[in-house]
Amino acid sequence: MLSGAGMSAESGIPTFRGAQNGLWSRFDPEDLATADAFRRDKALVWGWYVWRMAFARAANPHAGHMALAKLGSIKPDLAIITQNVDDLHERAGSWQVLHLHGSLFAPRCFACARPFEGFEIPESVADLRLEPPRCTHCGGYVRPGVVWFGESVTREAWKAAEAHARQCDLMVVVGTSGVVHPAALLPAIAKESGARVVEINPISSAVSGNADLAWRSSAAIALPALVEALESNS
Ligand code: OAD
Repeated sequence: MLSGAGMSAESGIPTFRGAQNGLWSRFDPEDLATADAFRRDKALVWGWYVWRMAFARAANPHAGHMALAKLGSIKPDLAIITQNVDDLHERAGSWQVLHLHGSLFAPRCFACARPFEGFEIPESVADLRLEPPRCTHCGGYVRPGVVWFGESVTREAWKAAEAHARQCDLMVVVGTSGVVHPAALLPAIAKESGARVVEINPISSAVSGNADLAWRSSAAIALPALVEALESNS
């Protein structure tokens, strides 16, 4: 299973490339999601991510997240590879989640890379500018624990994701435009390795060409139906 921002959309978290509300139609990633942007204006970048942390913390998993958690409890070999940096899969009860793009909730030092523990997420963020805290080891600035543009997905995460794609019988791809690499390669890898690929997305995407079935529905509607069908066939 591969999930993208559309997986969290019905929990109220905006996608990136949605025309109306997409984060990248309202904000410029060059100003907010690169290491250079952080060097240029730390308070702007940190404040924006704290705003996203507060937003994600206030959101709740929906019926699709719940259905996947239930599936994981009856099919322990289920792997959820997600590009999402929220924790909605885990809060629904899924434990086998691989975060390809990191996590909003794992800030680390920009200088020495040590994890920064104990950051208190405010309930709401009125001002997008916020000075980042300092690392308790080296005094460097603390950065968000996500993968920025121009950075690589960690080798371990990619190796694990690729292995799942090569070994699975079925890859369900939910809510991704399929344009960001290397995650975008996973459906094709699964297909080449003999798996069926099912896409769940209300509209066509770059994944659709590799999909054996394109289910034009939303995550919160299609996933509970899919899990129910898998359960009654097992
Ligand atoms: P996008 O915003 O590019 O795509 C979201 C996809 O979800 C679109 O194809 C929508 O049609 C679909 N969608 C919207 N609502 C849905 C719903 N309720 N159910 C199912 N699908 C729905 O987001 P991603 O593909 O996840 O990376 O973006 C990939 C990466 O680009 C992100 O992880 C982020 C971004 O830049 C980094 O920040 C590194």
